[in-house]
Amino acid sequence: MASEADLDNEDFSYAADQVLVKQYLDDIHEPEAMSEEEKNARKEAIKQLLKEEDAVLVAHYYTDPEIQSLAEETGGCVSDSLEMARFGNDHDAQTLMVAGVKFMGETAKILNPEKRILMPTLEATCSLDVGCPADEFKAFCEEHADRTVVVYANTSAAVKALSDWVVTSSIALDVAEHLHDKGEKILWAPDKHLGNYVRRESGADLIAWDGACIVHEEFKARGIEDLRAVYPEAAVLAHPESPRAVLEIADRVGSTTQIINAAEELPNKQFIVATDQGIFYQLQHRMPDKEFIIAPTAGSGASCRSCAHCPWMAMNVLERLEQSLREGSNEIHVDPELAKRAVIPLERMLNFAKSMKKTVIGNA
Ligand code: 13P
Ligand code: SF4
Repeated sequence: MASEADLDNEDFSYAADQVLVKQYLDDIHEPEAMSEEEKNARKEAIKQLLKEEDAVLVAHYYTDPEIQSLAEETGGCVSDSLEMARFGNDHDAQTLMVAGVKFMGETAKILNPEKRILMPTLEATCSLDVGCPADEFKAFCEEHADRTVVVYANTSAAVKALSDWVVTSSIALDVAEHLHDKGEKILWAPDKHLGNYVRRESGADLIAWDGACIVHEEFKARGIEDLRAVYPEAAVLAHPESPRAVLEIADRVGSTTQIINAAEELPNKQFIVATDQGIFYQLQHRMPDKEFIIAPTAGSGASCRSCAHCPWMAMNVLERLEQSLREGSNEIHVDPELAKRAVIPLERMLNFAKSMKKTVIGNA
C-alpha cells in the first residue's frame, strides 16, 4: 500500500532544498522578552511614527498579537496574503509597513512601485520561497512548456516573473477550476500539499514542484484523530499546506481567512486548528465563547523549531518594527524589470478575485 508520503509525492520533479531551509533556521535567534511597560511605550511610539511617516500597518494573521492589535487600532489591516495585497494596493498611505514574510513585502512593492514598502526585518523568509530557486524553476517550466504556470504567492519576485498566474490559498482552487474548464494543463509551484489538494478537488491535470511549508508539514492526522477522541464535538479546520491525511479528515480546508470564517459559520463550540498558532489571537478575539485547540505536531520527524509557529513570522517584533519606521530601514526593493513581469500574474489574480466578487474579508 502506498504511504502518505508516496501519495503526496506523485508527479514531483524536484526536491526542495532542505539544506538551504535548515541554514535559514539555524540563523534565527529568539527575540528578547519585553516588560509590559516597554511594550506599551513601543506601541505608542509606533502609533506616532505611523502618523508622521504617512504609513499604514499591513499584518498577517500569523504575526505577534501585539502587532495584530496595533494594526487594528491604527486603521491598518490584519488578514491573509490575498487581502494584504489588495489592502495595500487600495490604501492611500505613501508607506506600507508590511509585517509578515518577505514575499508579502515584495508583492506589495510589485503592486505599488511608487510606494515605500518597509518591513520589520528583511530576513523573514518562507520555506516555500527558499525551496524554489528561480533558475531551477525556469528549467522545470521549460521542460513543460505546454502547461500554464501557476505559482503560489509564497515565492520570490523572480519566480512570479516566470508565471502566468499568481494565486494565494484562498483563490488557488477557483483559479485551477477556471483553467481546467478552459482545457489548460497546470504546472504548479511550490507547495506540493496545496498543489495536490487543488488537483484532487478541481480534477485539473496538474504537475507540482516538490516544496512544503515547514510549519504545516508537521501536523499529524493520527494526532488529530487522538485529540478528536478527547473533544468529540470539535470540528477540524486545516490550512491546505497541511499533508493530505490531515486534509482528508478536516471538516473545512481553507486559507487563514477561510479558517476564521468557518469557525464563525459552524455551530461547533470547539475547534481543532491545523495552522500557525498566530491565528489564535483572531479566533479567540472574535469568538470568545468558542474554544480553539492547536492540532498536534508531535510524532516521528517533527521538529520543534517549527511546531505550529512559523519561525520567520516570529521575527516580526515591535522593536524591529519601530526601528524600521524610525530609520526607514528594511525597505523592499524589487528590480523594476522583474517587477514589470511579475505584476502581470499578480494583477491577473486580483482581477480574477474581483470578477468573482470574492469576499475575502480582513480585519481592516
Ligand atoms: P494565507 O494566504 O492563507 O494567509 O497563507 C499564507 C501562508 O503563508 C500560510 O502559511
Ligand atoms: Fe511560509 Fe509556512 Fe511560514 Fe507560511 S507558515 S510563511 S508557508 S514557512
